[in-house]
Amino acid sequence: MNRVQFKVNGVPYSVGCEVSSDVTLLDYVRDEIGLKGTKYMCREAGCGACVLSVRRGDTPSYSVNSCMMPVVSCHGLEITTIEELGDRKKGYHALQTTLAEDHGSQCGYCSPGLVMSMYR
Ligand code: FES
Repeated sequence: MNRVQFKVNGVPYSVGCEVSSDVTLLDYVRDEIGLKGTKYMCREAGCGACVLSVRRGDTPSYSVNSCMMPVVSCHGLEITTIEELGDRKKGYHALQTTLAEDHGSQCGYCSPGLVMSMYR
């Protein structure tokens, strides 16, 4: 049986018929992998809180609204979440530092999505 194979932050995952076609990449990353840094609000591609960076092979990376992307459509993708960019323990990415130091976030809830929208 063919399985959908992809990587999240360099770690390989695969899904098959055990995963419903309406499970989004957002829910898979948060609930199955446990990476809660990716946030959500609207679940209809309106707010950007759920943005992740994806890349296929040697093509340039691009941003996706993970709330609109079925995880079963992720075959071959290399997906990057906010946890890969940086955190308190390993240090912050320049985008995270700049956003914080230049007062680019308000409550901070959507900041991971903002950073991932700018990340390449
Ligand atoms: S949750 Fe708002 S764009 Fe995905």
